[in-house]
Amino acid sequence: MIAGNWKMNKEIGAAKSFVMELLPLIEEITGAEILICPPFTVLHPLYELLADSQVHLGAQDVFWEKNGAYTGEISAAMLIDAGCRYVIIGHSERRQVMGETDLNVNKKLITASTAGMIPILCIGETLEERKAQQAEKVVSQQLDQALYGLSLEEGEKLVIAYEPIWAIGTGMNASGQDAQQMSRFIRQRLGQKYGPGAAQAVKVLYGGSVKEENIEEFMQQEDIDGALIGGASLNPVSLANIVRLVGNG
Ligand code: PGA
Repeated sequence: MIAGNWKMNKEIGAAKSFVMELLPLIEEITGAEILICPPFTVLHPLYELLADSQVHLGAQDVFWEKNGAYTGEISAAMLIDAGCRYVIIGHSERRQVMGETDLNVNKKLITASTAGMIPILCIGETLEERKAQQAEKVVSQQLDQALYGLSLEEGEKLVIAYEPIWAIGTGMNASGQDAQQMSRFIRQRLGQKYGPGAAQAVKVLYGGSVKEENIEEFMQQEDIDGALIGGASLNPVSLANIVRLVGNG
């Protein structure tokens, strides 16, 4: 799975041009699940353009209530109505800039999952935590708290993105080996919670400065099923090149 996280970039016109350029470039490629997570305002315009393509749509956030007096928030039903099935939850930028807590993340995840969406849960440690040998502890706490109360019969209904915070937008990606080690750890923890079958079916993505030059290093790792990509997903040619390196054709 190659998922592009556009963050707060691209208005409707630019988003449509991106898609018109991307689609012919990836037309012949099979074997890669492609997902674009644009800003809310662009979801529905892109849904119409992507309807017959192999590109899926995801949102970057969701609120945990169904409807009501929550100024500025977007519900799972609204996202589904706009045409998206996936939703990023707990991205480190939301945790750090908007003060989102593990409890918030948990409520969002349960809400999205109950509504029939596929959450892409982001977890990852800071540089200080890694240096202090706390990375696994931090990641397992984030995982346990985010998944609290989630019953997962089918692992296909959940995606986990391991994104070390120090690697996001810095050009300083984790090594394939370190990303593999943490992905294995995450999968083992999922196995303890949900059983080996469900854990195997969960997609574990790596995120943090992924680009054409390093995607293959991550995809070679046994427990890494794809990537969540910020910067490099904003350019249709680099996204298409990444998809080509991952898929067939
Ligand atoms: P980046 O962002 O690829 O620009 O490092 C990844 C992310 O934040 O999901």
